[in-house]
Amino acid sequence: MKSTFEKFQLKNKVALVTGASRDLGFDACCALAEAQATVAITSRSKQKAKDAAEKLTDTYGIDAIGLELDHTNWNDVQRVKQDMLDWKGRIDILINNAGGGALLGETNLFKREPKAITSLIESNLIGPLFMCKAIGEIMIKQKSGKIINIASIAGLVGRNRDMYHRNDKNEQAIDYAAAKGGVIAMTRDLAALLAPYGVCVNAVSPGGFDKGELPASFVADYSAATMLGRMGKLDSDLKGIILFLASSASDYVTAQNIIVDGGFTFSK
Ligand SMILES: NC(=O)c1ccc[n+]([C@@H]2O[C@H](COP(=O)([O-])OP(=O)(O)OC[C@H]3O[C@@H](n4cnc5c(N)ncnc54)[C@H](O)[C@@H]3O)[C@@H](O)[C@H]2O)c1
Repeated sequence: MKSTFEKFQLKNKVALVTGASRDLGFDACCALAEAQATVAITSRSKQKAKDAAEKLTDTYGIDAIGLELDHTNWNDVQRVKQDMLDWKGRIDILINNAGGGALLGETNLFKREPKAITSLIESNLIGPLFMCKAIGEIMIKQKSGKIINIASIAGLVGRNRDMYHRNDKNEQAIDYAAAKGGVIAMTRDLAALLAPYGVCVNAVSPGGFDKGELPASFVADYSAATMLGRMGKLDSDLKGIILFLASSASDYVTAQNIIVDGGFTFSK
């Protein structure tokens, strides 16, 4: 029987992380690499994916590959599935990270371009669903696997827009909440569908992370609204939960949505 510490080790496990050349996706890759997983990074830019994979190999001494992928394009998804099978013949861990707010143009629903709404829902919900369809099939055959869908607290709670307006910042779009709520619901139902095959499916819902690009006044406002008094930190706050859900330390955990938000969602 493995010790709890041993259960967190990912040697000989193959992971695929989407949209992971930077920020939270790259953090997830680093957490897996620290535990010695083999990691495939995808990005819409082949060069960025390759550069990030090289960085992982240099830093952690693991086997890594960079693959081009637009996860909203079914042909791309099928190609990456085949690339993965050709490369290692299996996928133990899928992290659906690609997506995000991409708050360009008008984000207020009543001024927002319908095309922007469709595109955001495609990249945050349809893409992850395509990936679950393609990679889930491999996991069914293997009779094992871990799927982690990166959702958001936007999929759980409504947001008072004052904080955005008084800091002269684009407000969160309603379609982002719709897509991330969809990811959480998809996670639960997919967990039920895949449980008989030994595949665990969970979501992680981060709160706001400070990536160094937000106005200081917004960071201060947001921090004050969390219980822990700060925004999430890159290179740190998401990694632990990723490693837990990707490893056999979480073998009895499925259909969950783990909130990583410093208490924001439950703070009044
Ligand atoms: N940063 C936050 O505060 C925060 C909070 C809650 C949830 N999240 C979620 O965490 C995930 C990562 O966020 P981040 O802040 O690191 O974002 P990011 O923008 O830095 O990274 C997201 C990546 O997804 C890629 N992507 C977007 N659409 C794509 C498509 N169609 N095909 C392929 N790749 C695509 C982007 O190019 C980018 O590389 C996202 O799903 C986001 O919604 C982030």
